[in-house]
Amino acid sequence: MTNKTSLGLSVFFFLLTLAAVTSDLESDRRALIALRDGVHGRPLLWNLTAPPCTWGGVQCNAGRVTALRLPGVGLSGPLPIAIGNLTKLETLSFRFNALTGPLPADFANLTLLRYLYLQGNAFSEEIPSFLFDLPNVIRINLAQNNFSGQIPVNVNSATRLATLYLEDNQLTGPIPEIKLKLQQFNVSSNQLNGSIPDPLSGMPKTAFEGNSLCGKPLAACAVAGKGTGKGKSHKLSAGAIAGIVIGGVVVLLLLLLFLFCDCCLCRKKKKQDNVESRNIEAAAAAPVPSSAAVAKETTVDNTPPAVANGSSENGAAKNSKDLTFFVKSFGVFDLDGLLKASAEVLGKGAFGSSYKASFEHGLVVAVKRLRDVVVPEKEFKEKLQVLGSISHPNLVALIAYYFSRDEKLVVFEYMSRGSLSALLHGNKGSGRSPLSWETRAGIALGAARAISYLHSRDATTSHGNIKSCNILLSESYEAKVSDYCLAPMISPTSTPNRIDGYRAPEVTDARRISQKADVYSFGVLILELLTGKSPTHQQLNEEGVDLPRWVSSITEQQSPSDVFDPELTRYQAEGNENMIRLLKIGISCTAQYPDSRPSMAEVTRLIEEVSRSSGSHSPLSG
Ligand SMILES: *[C@@H]1O[C@H](CO)[C@@H](O)[C@H](O)[C@H]1NC(C)=O
Ligand SMILES: *[C@@H]1O[C@H](CO)[C@@H](O)[C@H](O)[C@H]1NC(C)=O
Ligand SMILES: *[C@@H]1O[C@H](CO)[C@@H](O)[C@H](O)[C@H]1NC(C)=O
Ligand SMILES: *[C@@H]1O[C@H](CO)[C@@H](O)[C@H](O)[C@H]1NC(C)=O
Ligand SMILES: *[C@@H]1O[C@H](CO)[C@@H](O)[C@H](O)[C@H]1NC(C)=O
Ligand SMILES: *[C@@H]1O[C@H](CO)[C@@H](O)[C@H](O)[C@H]1NC(C)=O
Repeated sequence: MTNKTSLGLSVFFFLLTLAAVTSDLESDRRALIALRDGVHGRPLLWNLTAPPCTWGGVQCNAGRVTALRLPGVGLSGPLPIAIGNLTKLETLSFRFNALTGPLPADFANLTLLRYLYLQGNAFSEEIPSFLFDLPNVIRINLAQNNFSGQIPVNVNSATRLATLYLEDNQLTGPIPEIKLKLQQFNVSSNQLNGSIPDPLSGMPKTAFEGNSLCGKPLAACAVAGKGTGKGKSHKLSAGAIAGIVIGGVVVLLLLLLFLFCDCCLCRKKKKQDNVESRNIEAAAAAPVPSSAAVAKETTVDNTPPAVANGSSENGAAKNSKDLTFFVKSFGVFDLDGLLKASAEVLGKGAFGSSYKASFEHGLVVAVKRLRDVVVPEKEFKEKLQVLGSISHPNLVALIAYYFSRDEKLVVFEYMSRGSLSALLHGNKGSGRSPLSWETRAGIALGAARAISYLHSRDATTSHGNIKSCNILLSESYEAKVSDYCLAPMISPTSTPNRIDGYRAPEVTDARRISQKADVYSFGVLILELLTGKSPTHQQLNEEGVDLPRWVSSITEQQSPSDVFDPELTRYQAEGNENMIRLLKIGISCTAQYPDSRPSMAEVTRLIEEVSRSSGSHSPLSG
């Protein structure tokens, strides 16, 4: 009897709990449907007969909705009151939609919320202070919206807050006294004024630019009004204002210079005609795309840009050695001849600048001027001897090299079609012929074969710097991989520390890239080929919204073909199976954990299959 009662009781409680769980999920479901029905823009294609945890962008844990991620899905208009009922929500992302209006008041009920990503919308009105009363919130990103008014003074209530991004809004007034230990903070491009609170003085300057702020890390504040002698304080503030103005101009110039350098990185220079007559030294010394790359250039400016000078003054050092050749089938030339050849800047990369050198007798080669080489001459020569012995139809051939104390040159075969990066992201309006699916598949295959070949040499050989500007194309659009195996010789400080969209998550030292990290970079390259999106695009920010994650977030909730480059799908039959197969290969290469990624040999085999069944043939496929 007692046994039966207790059994009955436990069944009763079990059913009760079950009912509670299902009713909570039912409430989550109702809230999601209210969101779907209340928001404008592109409809959310959720299958209402399936459980909500299977809906695109919805993630559950223990039978409740814990994450809602709808990035870049074309939602617009104001958010309805609904999301506040998702009481177990920890992650909410609506970044890069076109949502408007104020943040709904029911967000105040999201007490478990940790990550809030609303950047890239048109939300307006004041930032509600309840956001900072959410006890668990760690990241708040409201950048690139239309928020106005002041930053709430209760920021310090969010004791776990680590990231606060508010840049590109219409915020006014002062920055409140923030006492939290924030890791990431940005209020640039608002209309804030007043002084920067001391605890934030260690943040980068760029976090505050585009406001009327003063104090560390920006220029000191004018001490107007506080001094005893009015005239003195007036003078002081005038001086300070001048300082701020000059500082601002310098910062702006630096910023412009930085942006400019960043733009020409990886990109084929457009104006080519007027540099043709220059030689390499002059091209390098020319101020056009920033002359900061090579230290030597700073000493060149008061000498005429003629090689005669180079060979008389530095002549002793230069003529004592000459180029060391690996292949002579391209033609033979000496260092003086190379330096006299007319040169044109092709681009600047992490390892140094590249030039196209054209000899009078018609030979054209590419010259890479390495900077920040950290290995001694002996090791450099040994490494290059190894490189010179590598030969594969999909690797750019190494022709010769030169090493002296202040000049390290590597001569490669010249590729007339430039880089894949320039072809994919170059000026689309300029009569450039779009890359077809067959061409792209052929490029993927050629590059895969080259990298696979490098990996097959021994387990420690990797390319080290796979990205679309290092995939060059021959006249027939055959992929030729360049810049291979140079990474171990270059100082890690010389590699740009801005977010590199190709780098595998486990990589901490740019000089030591494993084969599996190469596979990751190659996966990003495939996604780039298929989506037409650059992995280093600025949207790829702190949230880790890199190209692989963007692709997965879209493919999870929509048809995979939504990620493809419109240029690719325009002339292609609907739902090309082979494109989706290649996309899946790219996704598998970009797995988070190195062990989950396929080997390059496996990747090559899979791409060969795709290539065969789509009838595309790279010039090399059998
Ligand atoms: C939110 O929850 C409240 C109380 O449980 C309920 O009255 C309301 O209808 C719910 N709203 C939505 C949109 O689900
Ligand atoms: C919706 O989900 C149900 C149940 O999982 C399934 O039977 C049905 O085929 C789905 N409908 C569509 C259009 O996917
Ligand atoms: C938060 O939830 C409580 C209880 O469910 C409800 O009464 C209140 O209206 C909600 N607040 C907002 C702002 O929606
Ligand atoms: C920004 O908000 C203001 C009012 O707060 C509004 O007048 C303006 O149109 C909004 N701008 C955009 C681009 O939404
Ligand atoms: C900031 O701007 C507001 C409005 O323009 C003004 O009233 C206020 O005095 C300014 N504060 C400082 C510290 O300059
Ligand atoms: C702040 O945001 C601006 C604009 O997006 C950006 O240029 C700058 O690099 C950012 N600075 C920091 C420290 O995040």
